[in-house]
Amino acid sequence: MLRFVVNGRVVETDMHPGTILIDFIREVLNFTGTKEACREGECGACTILVGSLDANGGVSYKSCASCILPIGNVRNCHIVTIEGVNFEKNLNAVQQLIMDNSASQCGFCTPGIVLSLLGFCLNSKKFSYDDAIDSLDGNLCRCTGYASISNAAKGLSEVLREKNSDIEERVNVLVSSSVLPEYFLKIPEMLTDISSVPNGKISKDSVIVAGGTDLFVQKPEQLQEAKLFFISERKDLNYIRQDKTHILIGGAVTVEEFRNSEVVNKYFPAMKDDLLYHSSMILRNRATLAGNIVNASPIGDMTIILLALNALIVIECKRGGTRELALDKFYRGYKKIDLEKCEIIREIKIPIPKGNYYYNFEKVSNRKTLDIAAVNTALLMQVDKNGKIGDLRISAGGVAPVPLVVQNLAQFKGNVLDNNIIRKIVDVVTEQVTPIDDIRGSAKYKKLLLKELVAAHFKSFY
Ligand SMILES: Cc1cc2nc3c(=O)[nH]c(=O)nc-3n(C[C@H](O)[C@H](O)[C@H](O)COP(=O)(O)OP(=O)(O)OC[C@H]3O[C@@H](n4cnc5c(N)ncnc54)[C@H](O)[C@@H]3O)c2cc1C
Ligand code: FES
Ligand code: FES
Repeated sequence: MLRFVVNGRVVETDMHPGTILIDFIREVLNFTGTKEACREGECGACTILVGSLDANGGVSYKSCASCILPIGNVRNCHIVTIEGVNFEKNLNAVQQLIMDNSASQCGFCTPGIVLSLLGFCLNSKKFSYDDAIDSLDGNLCRCTGYASISNAAKGLSEVLREKNSDIEERVNVLVSSSVLPEYFLKIPEMLTDISSVPNGKISKDSVIVAGGTDLFVQKPEQLQEAKLFFISERKDLNYIRQDKTHILIGGAVTVEEFRNSEVVNKYFPAMKDDLLYHSSMILRNRATLAGNIVNASPIGDMTIILLALNALIVIECKRGGTRELALDKFYRGYKKIDLEKCEIIREIKIPIPKGNYYYNFEKVSNRKTLDIAAVNTALLMQVDKNGKIGDLRISAGGVAPVPLVVQNLAQFKGNVLDNNIIRKIVDVVTEQVTPIDDIRGSAKYKKLLLKELVAAHFKSFY
């Protein structure tokens, strides 16, 4: 039996945990304000909020695409649809700003836009306009025009900037500012009352589901009958911390949690902006690093970044115990990985870089956000105080059957970085790649693109 709260009411169901949340919301609960268009996480029409109890006894809310979210992933959670943020008589403050700025025309995208903006209200540290715009990066509108939506977002960030921005006090502030209805104050207690500990175990026929943002696009029908094991049930895998030598990331950590992590930003400040190019907020809030690695796409953004950072993975074995291997040893061929049935990625370890170093990520895709790459690449390079190259790692995606780590770069160790050396490095990289013609571009185009992107790594700091 799955239990969760939808808007202000507790819901129990025996339906298969692979049932897609939007179908449950619209067809079982009859909350038809949540709209469906692409059913692939691409448009944001189906955006809802998912809240879960946090360590301080409050509830932490994330905007998510409900069209690729299985109900098994929202056990013990608070689901908020557009019906759940309506006030009895008036519009809520976000809806009012949408109206005042003429930011809705046919209205099909509007519920999703309101919920994404509420995600901003609940999570932005300083209520900045940039954060408001970033919260909308997964929401498409085909008729209003984005200028009026941006104006509404701007108005919202200005109104909220006057308020106390403490995250712990956030729900109280938003309730007293007529952004959220009052029942939100009772949700922590309601979630505590319904919380149950799942007793799922992995067996050899289980499909492991993390965010589901790959799985529920690839085979949604089969998964509604399959035996599922939800990584979200492993609360022990939700951490980012550091020890003396590594940043340690639990196997349930999402791309958005990684993007906002203080530990990660301390060593790689560019990561916060780089990962804006990974899908969109409503997907990053569910998509995990481990899912990106296991999916084994040759163009996975997280994978390409982690390969350049020389990451290791810790795998929990089926008979207990763990084994550890370098991420680049995990890939054995196109979509072939070193992972047995019942094994899960428990942890990802990033070595903490020493001395003076540069990290950079480049990606080209058809659209700026919400799109996977044609070609992507990351670089990590140490340079000593005399400008001499130390360890150098470059990864490249979309140019080989597997996410690639470029070989033979040790030859540049000890050279002073200059334009001549940069040209030689670019040549070494492009010699090693074997792209193919596909929907994302011709082999010739991708090779040329990689050449430009590797040169761009150096332009970012040299
Ligand atoms: C619209 C859209 C845009 C996207 N844009 C991008 C993009 O810009 N860049 C990009 O890289 N990707 C993109 N993706 C792909 C996807 O979001 C990512 O690959 C994501 O990181 C997958 O993580 P997940 O947790 O959702 O994986 P899931 O779908 O839950 O799982 C993926 C695979 O990993 C396995 N798995 C998951 N966790 C574990 C674990 N801990 N141990 C063992 N196996 C595990 C699953 O069994 C499955 O085989 C996009 C997807 C969509 C739908
Ligand atoms: S229906 Fe398009 S993202 Fe869900
Ligand atoms: S108002 Fe019509 S799609 Fe946005």
